[in-house]
Amino acid sequence: NSLRHVESMSQLPSGAGKISQLNAVVLGESLASEENDLVFPSKEFSGQALVSSPQQYMEMHKRSMDDPAAFWSDIASEFYWKQKWGDQVFSENLDVRKGPISIEWFKGGITNICYNCLDKNVEAGLGDKTAIHWEGNELGVDASLTYSELLQRVCQLANYLKDNGVKKGDAVVIYLPMLMELPIAMLACARIGAVHSVVFAGFSADSLAQRIVDCKPNVILTCNAVKRGPKTINLKAIVDAALDQSSKDGVSVGICLTYDNSLATTRENTKWQNGRDVWWQDVISQYPTSCEVEWVDAEDPLFLLYTSGSTGKPKGVLHTTGGYMIYTATTFKYAFDYKSTDVYWCTADCGWITGHSYVTYGPMLNGATVVVFEGAPNYPDPGRCWDIVDKYKVSIFYTAPTLVRSLMRDDDKFVTRHSRKSLRVLGSVGEPINPSAWRWFFNVVGDSRCPISDTWWQTETGGFMITPLPGAWPQKPGSATFPFFGVQPVIVDEKGNEIEGECSGYLCVKGSWPGAFRTLFGDHERYETTYFKPFAGYYFSGDGCSRDKDGYYWLTGRVDDVINVSGHRIGTAEVESALVLHPQCAEAAVVGIEHEVKGQGIYAFVTLLEGVPYSEELRKSLVLMVRNQIGAFAAPDRIHWAPGLPKTRSGKIMRRILRKIASRQLEELGDTSTLADPSVVDQLIALADV
Ligand code: WT7
Repeated sequence: NSLRHVESMSQLPSGAGKISQLNAVVLGESLASEENDLVFPSKEFSGQALVSSPQQYMEMHKRSMDDPAAFWSDIASEFYWKQKWGDQVFSENLDVRKGPISIEWFKGGITNICYNCLDKNVEAGLGDKTAIHWEGNELGVDASLTYSELLQRVCQLANYLKDNGVKKGDAVVIYLPMLMELPIAMLACARIGAVHSVVFAGFSADSLAQRIVDCKPNVILTCNAVKRGPKTINLKAIVDAALDQSSKDGVSVGICLTYDNSLATTRENTKWQNGRDVWWQDVISQYPTSCEVEWVDAEDPLFLLYTSGSTGKPKGVLHTTGGYMIYTATTFKYAFDYKSTDVYWCTADCGWITGHSYVTYGPMLNGATVVVFEGAPNYPDPGRCWDIVDKYKVSIFYTAPTLVRSLMRDDDKFVTRHSRKSLRVLGSVGEPINPSAWRWFFNVVGDSRCPISDTWWQTETGGFMITPLPGAWPQKPGSATFPFFGVQPVIVDEKGNEIEGECSGYLCVKGSWPGAFRTLFGDHERYETTYFKPFAGYYFSGDGCSRDKDGYYWLTGRVDDVINVSGHRIGTAEVESALVLHPQCAEAAVVGIEHEVKGQGIYAFVTLLEGVPYSEELRKSLVLMVRNQIGAFAAPDRIHWAPGLPKTRSGKIMRRILRKIASRQLEELGDTSTLADPSVVDQLIALADV
């Protein structure tokens, strides 16, 4: 069986535990037994891989830990720097007890990430290589751009922005679906040193307004409408409402540059505010196709991306230029074993970090051909992904477990009727991938031929932190395996003590890495409190994790008040704040529950105002409230009427109990005697099916 081979298993990373087990399992034939569940890359794959054995990985990892400055500056030297960084490759303080948290990489180095993504590749002879294959929502609708063409488009937009007063350091909000204009917009901002803040186009007007008010852009880039699956979504109407809202809150946006997406609507059907709104196509073509680069310091901000935390207010994660550039480029290259002949498709939207680091920057820094898909992955039928894979001969396919689980529910023939023989590496991100989804992805989609890179990382980390290198390691379905170069994960107990060997606890990271976020926009204190104070001396990820006897890392999900719905991160507090805005809602408490496709679903306990009767209509209007406040992706799956909530005598909601009730584990409610009113629990149980 070509899936597994015996060599290169003689050593594991330090702290990895015993290796006897690993050596024992390689004799297995088909899939190994449960506890010896290892899947080896084929000899053919490892033979051609950038990192082809555990030893090679370990040597590189060791070097990256022993001398991070040398390791990363060697890699950074492969990119274009107008001026080299100073003597210190990096400096950091990750210990709140020693002063403010600060991380700097390549400080003093002058560069531009857009230049490195485009000009550098064109100059290296890749001008005629396809940069983007764009696949529209409808079958047969597509377009493509070479690296030279992409550079020209980016320059035209960059010139427009400059001409309209956008300067280095200014924020630009981008609210676009997966049109080519989305990566173009990001790169155009980067080219002129503007700080892009992409807001996922599934967010509501209120959420968009909240982000606009926080970062105060003068320009927003959007389009009039988009088709997603069978639906048409009028994005411009959402933007209009957001701009009304934000001007009431004191931030008025001067220009709304609107791409006319004639595939989804018409100009006549688009509401227009003269003076503020400008049609993209009417102005951009008048601008020159070349544009001087704004050279920036490695530590100048590149982008802001809002993400959810455990309070209602989203956090503006700030990434800077140089370290992020080197880190996304390197992680992309190694985790997907990238070769210049690859065609790469990541199904994520550029509205999330995955689309920043692994649709736009990481791949383009490597001169890769990237598929950008506008539509829904199950439209017009569940075979669409494999249709796209065959059409563009996709060789690296990166997606989320939720999509795998949803496609797995349909007949395998939707997959097997397509050839998929171009595929060589698969990837997974967003949440832990359950072993049965892993196996289906591996066996059915990848024909038991393609290694899966299960990449653990976060908006905050900029790039992959724990991930297989597909040619190096035997994989265990459901484990993200080992740390990337330069990353030192540690598992700590409640008190913040590091635990060695086989264990479970809180996942932290020791030391900085180039792609780490540098602050939360406008709130460095929250940055320190959330990430560096819980376990002094470490970056705290918010995830639980265990390490097995072979040293493999297994992510077990969030340990804070954040839930992960279809790989989208949602703060329970955000959903609660939206619910209590409903005029009949007195109080709400939200917990995550297991969901077959989404990973986690949103379960909301709602206390109504005195005397308001329960009704289906009210339930619907509560859900609608959340859709309007946050976005459809955050809509609660279940509303549970709650005459009261279980609270301690000091008024703290005991979510542990709510989680047990939500998952109907009623025998495991635990001690309820500390509740201010223990009878609340019986009332809740009685209403479970109402
Ligand atoms: C959270 C970060 C990073 C890209 C997408 C989400 C969870 C992410 C994995 C994985 C287990 C994962 C974690 C993490 N997560 N990837 N491969 N295995 N869990 O970015 O919105 O910043 O969410 O997603 O819980 O903390 P994000």
